[in-house]
Amino acid sequence: MLVHIKRILGAQELDQLRAGMAAAEFVEGGATAGHQAKRVKQNQQIAAGSPAEQELGRIVLQALQRSPRFMASALPRKLSAPMFSRYTPGMTYGTHVDNAIRMQPRMRTDISATLFLCAPESYDGGELVIEDSYGHHSVKFAAGDLVLYPSSSLHRVQPVTRGARDAAVLWVESMVRDERERRVLLDLDNSIQRLLAANADHPEAGVLTACYHNLLRMWADT
Ligand code: NI
Repeated sequence: MLVHIKRILGAQELDQLRAGMAAAEFVEGGATAGHQAKRVKQNQQIAAGSPAEQELGRIVLQALQRSPRFMASALPRKLSAPMFSRYTPGMTYGTHVDNAIRMQPRMRTDISATLFLCAPESYDGGELVIEDSYGHHSVKFAAGDLVLYPSSSLHRVQPVTRGARDAAVLWVESMVRDERERRVLLDLDNSIQRLLAANADHPEAGVLTACYHNLLRMWADT
């Protein structure tokens, strides 16, 4: 399940992140990759654990946590610290799968998230390509938009050939581990929201809401 959340960042937050990235020092990205991923990762990122990374990371986490759509899609139990990457011409991240476990905090990665920070017309290449059983999905969204996809999927970042592609990436351990279950919950939640938008007093809304919470009770670990 690919979820596109538009404008998860406000204009002011986007400006703050861009200013922070313009001022930050970057290091080679391979340092934080797993054994296989390191061989195909050619990008730069703000040093892990640096004050700049922590300050910018707080802005991203605040934006995510106030987004009802993010909370409903991801049902997060733990969030990783966001990492901030940059690809300039010639840089790429070949096909890989993200590490299953991260250590700080110690967590399982169920969902991978990419937050786009540059206008898509400002660079060429740099598409995030995600493979699933339905084929390949090529993603290059507006600045301030977020994409969520299963951490179990093979994915890559196409080579950048012009400009710079800045993005924040992070991982979610979800209260609901199984992607199929998360999809049922999200479909049901979206359907209830549409029903209530059409008729705030619809008599079935209460039963459907009870079904949502009772499925969550069956499937969630807190
Ligand atoms: Ni990855």
